[in-house]
Amino acid sequence: MTLNNRRAFLKNSVLGTAGLVFTSKVRAQISTPRDAEGPFYPITPQKDKDADLTKVAGKLGTAKGTIINIFGQVFDTNSNPIEDATIDLWQANSFGKYHHPHDTSDAPIDENFQSWAIIQSGKNGAFRFKTVMPGAYPYQAKAEDQRTPHIHMKIGKHGYEPVLTQMYFPDQEQNKTDGLYQRKTKTQQAMMTAQYTEKPNEFLYNIFLEKI
Ligand SMILES: [Fe+2]
Repeated sequence: MTLNNRRAFLKNSVLGTAGLVFTSKVRAQISTPRDAEGPFYPITPQKDKDADLTKVAGKLGTAKGTIINIFGQVFDTNSNPIEDATIDLWQANSFGKYHHPHDTSDAPIDENFQSWAIIQSGKNGAFRFKTVMPGAYPYQAKAEDQRTPHIHMKIGKHGYEPVLTQMYFPDQEQNKTDGLYQRKTKTQQAMMTAQYTEKPNEFLYNIFLEKI
């Protein structure tokens, strides 16, 4: 090795090491950002809380609206998958109405929409659920503003900090004006917004929990 080559080698090694450190910092994720619980966490008991929200057990109909599939994995902040995490999720129906006695809006109730599910991550932290695209709805404190479509989630597992959050959708017009969404940083928005996949009406959403 000539002196010049050796200098170049050392320089590259140092940069390479720095690069690795930087890379590992970038790869270490932060926890999924938290968001407001909102006023409509379900309080009416329901038996059917499975991963298909488009059908209600004992009813023949299907929920109205655009059927969507959401899948992803639950990870810790070092990108290790977390199995058996509980994902408690609830959302408005396609008309923007919650199945909740405190939702007094005029939007129609959809009796065939399950509206609430409690599911668990499985092998490799994977989860999946089927639902309908939630409708936008008036923000109660300021009725002229619309809440952009979102799905509320509480994610927990013993030994990890629980996360109460809202999952958002890409390219929604109301994302630009939604107060809760807009107060997040771009990085937070990116972590909280589901991604398109190659399949229509299918979205990818990964969740990150911090170890206690
Ligand atoms: Fe909501």
